[in-house]
Amino acid sequence: MKIALIGYGNMAEVLGSKWVKKHPLYISGRNLEKAQALANKLGNGTECGSEADASSFAEVIVLATQHKAVFEAMDAAGGPDALAGKVLLDINNPVDAADGEFLPKHYDEGSLAEAIAKYAPAAHVVKAFNMCQAQVWQMEPPLFDGRPLVTLYCGDNPEAKQKVAALIEEVGCEPEDLGELKYARLLEAAAAIVIKFLFSGHDVHTVLNLIKPESRAIS
Ligand SMILES: NC(=O)c1ccc[n+]([C@@H]2O[C@H](COP(=O)([O-])OP(=O)(O)OC[C@H]3O[C@@H](n4cnc5c(N)ncnc54)[C@H](OP(=O)(O)O)[C@@H]3O)[C@@H](O)[C@H]2O)c1
Repeated sequence: MKIALIGYGNMAEVLGSKWVKKHPLYISGRNLEKAQALANKLGNGTECGSEADASSFAEVIVLATQHKAVFEAMDAAGGPDALAGKVLLDINNPVDAADGEFLPKHYDEGSLAEAIAKYAPAAHVVKAFNMCQAQVWQMEPPLFDGRPLVTLYCGDNPEAKQKVAALIEEVGCEPEDLGELKYARLLEAAAAIVIKFLFSGHDVHTVLNLIKPESRAIS
């Protein structure tokens, strides 16, 4: 599966480092030096270049910029026509921690994922990987009490979802189909809860188990 990551930040690096073992990768973004640096770090022939070249390269495009830049990134990738038929993996949380409120931004009463689908109607949007902090996805594998992390995903296209489910397994997690893309509203809201707690000092590894880490030990 040819995968392009638009964005070269924490999530692009963590997910890329898992998938590079098995798939041809392409790193892109607004700063080609930074894209090149991540491509070099991931190695194994990882290429880098413009968003438009990333889009022609890949069958799966991971939107891995800050959430506010997602539409700019898709414009740079060539817009709706260039994205037609591609799997667009939306990992983003439309939450601005800086405002101190942690409420997810709504798009016409819907989710960011649905707004992406509206922008690129012939692409196949799947939402996944937004629920946990990068350090959790980085675990080799993400196990909790010896059990693999269940990773929720949603989308409207069965083939696209199958591809994303395989990518979830390759990160070491157990994919769980939440349903159609409209359920991204729940994923974005749930992640906003996680982010609010993380910013108030909760351990990233407690994820949605919102128990205090010190109360977890069972004698
Ligand atoms: N970090 C996490 O734990 C985590 C977990 C789950 C989901 N997510 C979601 O994943 C997405 C990426 O998060 P991250 O932690 O990887 O972010 P990050 O490390 O801060 O990297 C952000 C990326 O977005 C690019 N970017 C920012 N503003 C841009 C703009 N105006 N135009 C084009 N590119 C722009 C940055 O490029 P420059 O360096 O050039 O600015 C960089 O490549 C976010 O939407 C976040 O909500 C993050």
